[in-house]
Order: sequence, then structure tokens, then C-alpha cells
Amino acid sequence: MRTYDAYRKMTEEALLPMLASLGHIPSRLQEAMAYSLQAGGKRIRPVLLLAANEMAGGSAEDALPYACALEMIHTYSLIHDDLPAMDNDDLRRGRPTNHKVYGEDIAILAGDGLLNAAAELMASAAVKTDNLRGLHALEIIMRHAGVTGMIAGQAADVTSEGLEPDAERVRYIHEHKTADLLEAALEAGLALAGAQEAEIAAVREYALHLGLAFQMTDDLLDVKGTAETLGKHPGKDLEQDKMTWIALRGVEGTEEDARREAEKAQEALETLPWDAGFFAAFARSLVGRTK
Ligand code: IPE
Ligand code: IPE
Ligand code: MG
Ligand code: MG
Ligand code: MG
Repeated sequence: MRTYDAYRKMTEEALLPMLASLGHIPSRLQEAMAYSLQAGGKRIRPVLLLAANEMAGGSAEDALPYACALEMIHTYSLIHDDLPAMDNDDLRRGRPTNHKVYGEDIAILAGDGLLNAAAELMASAAVKTDNLRGLHALEIIMRHAGVTGMIAGQAADVTSEGLEPDAERVRYIHEHKTADLLEAALEAGLALAGAQEAEIAAVREYALHLGLAFQMTDDLLDVKGTAETLGKHPGKDLEQDKMTWIALRGVEGTEEDARREAEKAQEALETLPWDAGFFAAFARSLVGRTK
């Protein structure tokens, strides 16, 4: 296995060439898609996919189209999340949001475009291989990003604004709007390497707790972070009366819960037959992250 930075660099170098491999894209649409893809970001999801794949004996080079596709899906979700009709944000990844630069019409299409490009890239990678692993990864990623996954979580998020916080609902939001794409990364990485169901179940458990800890920390950073480090404006959740973990448990309660979830994530790795040190370290690094 390689380092976080090595997987991040691989992803970043491949994102635009993968988009270009689809053929001619009208220039303003291409520019808008590239603008958000290149804006930086931590690249957590593709890194986790590539690392999981290599941990299970796969080759990161073969898994790269799926990693890039997952980052495209995540980036589309951010473009749409920032739209005036959703969270109405004007700063993302340290830059003006997509709709601020390209207008809402192109921003919506750039998001649609990234989602579609992701599916197209994975499907074409899958048809090039003579086994069902690619198809399995495609199914895992589209399901977790879909109407029972991330989109379901985003729908619950926007329809819960202003409501009395409810533990089950807050958990549903976190599990789906955030944990699902992390689960997709780990599960797809393993599926591409031909891992067994028991191993996939263990990483699913890891990713669920990781995702909960990750979104709890995102909610904490909205209260405690700064625009300079976060690259997005803090204070938005309170302004929009979002049903966050903080609304449910307060700052200290959320810090406590995030630490516990990060520990549970690490415990879930214990049954794996491989050295999962990369993932244990990643879970530890989440608690106390500043961006
Ligand atoms: C932000 O995700 C949206 C959430 C699911 C909390 P990230 O914090 O991974 O954002 P980037 O990709 O680094 O910009
Ligand atoms: C967004 O959650 C999650 C997705 C885009 C799927 P948030 O709305 O909390 O993310 P930020 O804080 O804007 O990055
Ligand atoms: Mg949101
Ligand atoms: Mg938002
Ligand atoms: Mg947030």
C-alpha cells in the first residue's frame, strides 16, 4: 500500500484526463466541471477506495476510474448542495461556489454532467474487463450515491430544517448524506479486488462509524472552524436551522460521540485478514481535524 498523498496525487492527475476521454464537452460546461474538480478538496473518498483495493490485493491503477468516478459524484453533490435552493453557499474549497462563477443553469448542468460522467466512466471500465468485479463496484457506488443513499440523506437534510432534533432522524441524515459515500469507497475498493463477503461486511461497519464521526466533525467545524482553513463559510447550519448532531447533543456531546464512533470504526477492522493500519490511522486523524 502507498501513502495517503500518493493516492491523492494519482487521483488528481487522472481526473481531467478521464473527463476528456469521454469526448467533446461544450466548453462552458467543461470549464464549470473542471473548475470544481480542480478546486482541491481532501479527496478522501478516492483515496479510501484505492487504499482498500490495494489492501485487498488489487491494483490501484485498475481501480483508478472508479476512484475518479466517486470523486466526480462527491463533487457534483457539493455543487448542488451549495445552490441557492439548497444550502445557498458562496464559498467552497476556498473558491467562489460553482453557481457564483458560472450561474445556476450551468452549475446544475455541471453537477448533472459529473454524475453522468461518473456512471459512464465506470461502465466503460467495467465492460473492458472480463469479470464481474467492475460491474459490482459500479452497482455499489451508484446505490450508495442514489435515492436510498446519499440523495436520500440530502433530501432528509433539507426537509428537516427548522424541525425539533430527533436522534433517529439526525442519524439517518448522517448515515446517508455522508457515511454512504465512504461505504461506497471501501466496499467498491474491496469488490474490485475480489474480496469475500465477510471482509466487505467488516469494512462496511468501519465506514459507517467513520462516516458518522466524519459528519459529526463537519458539524463541529461549522461551529468552531474558520473560512480560511475550511475553505467554506462556517456558521451556516445554525443560520439555516439545520438538524445537525450539534442541535441534538451540543458541542461537547458531539465531540464525545465523534471520538466513540472513531473508536468503533477502528474496532471493526480487527477481523480483517490484512494489515489495516492505514485505515486505523485515518480514523484517528478524523477526530480533531481542522478541515
Ligand atoms: C464535505 O465533504 C461534505 C460532507 C459530506 C461533509 P469533504 O469534507 O470531504 O469535502 P472536500 O471534498 O474535502 O471538499
Ligand atoms: C453535505 O453536507 C453532504 C453532501 C454534499 C452529500 P453539508 O451540507 O453539511 O456539507 P457542507 O458543510 O456544505 O460541506
Ligand atoms: Mg447540505
Ligand atoms: Mg452544505
Ligand atoms: Mg456541513
